[in-house]
Amino acid sequence: MSTMMVAGNWKMNASTLTNTDLTNALVAGAATLTNVQMVVFPPAPYLGQVQELLADSAIALGAQNVSDKAQGAYTGEVSATMLKDFGVKYVLVGHSERRSLYGESDAIVAAKFKAVKTAGLIPVLCIGETLAQREAEATLDVVNGQLQAVIDLVGVAELATAVVAYEPVWAIGTGLTASPEQAQEVHQAIRAYLATQDAAVAEQVQILYGGSVNAATANELFAQSDIDGGLVGGASLDAQAFLAIGQAAQS
Ligand code: PGA
Repeated sequence: MSTMMVAGNWKMNASTLTNTDLTNALVAGAATLTNVQMVVFPPAPYLGQVQELLADSAIALGAQNVSDKAQGAYTGEVSATMLKDFGVKYVLVGHSERRSLYGESDAIVAAKFKAVKTAGLIPVLCIGETLAQREAEATLDVVNGQLQAVIDLVGVAELATAVVAYEPVWAIGTGLTASPEQAQEVHQAIRAYLATQDAAVAEQVQILYGGSVNAATANELFAQSDIDGGLVGGASLDAQAFLAIGQAAQS
């Protein structure tokens, strides 16, 4: 991968006021960044606001969730074409909080991935093991199974133009970052697994690391050969911290 990606998942933290301050600071600070695609993922009601704030910037807009359905009588859902209408380019699917707190199965995640692709947007497919699964040495089985559920529905070729985010559940919001070696080991294994199905896809797919990434840990993580950037939660709410992670992705 030539261009690294640094993606900021704001989760359910936003207001029109804080969005303005945060986005304006990011736009100003990101102007000097090169060779790194910065992306922000605000909560859905603010997509229009942040789209306008980002108008003259190279920072891309992402959404945190999407319906698996195209349109119709699905109260409360937001379709991929609606997201596209607000300038969204990237959509998170299968974040561990959605899997664990909102019961999203591998099948639902795969359907959402397909809906995003069908609308011409780029899914950011989140996969990762829990602490219990890591301790049971099931990490690779878990992440490969989560990947395979998507491949079974859409075919491996669709991964070439998607983003995968490896996020060990035990490292999300906990301050426990996977060591660069632990992260690299899984990233390499994900690429090796994909290579058994399509070597070109394995080379092209962009694989981000996520889980308590901050300005202090980003350099070493991004130096690993199979890590193509980061998906950042907590630190993405602080403009200076998020920009510092963007800088780490450049070097
Ligand atoms: P964190 O969140 O950086 O706060 O651990 C990462 C994520 O959930 O994407």
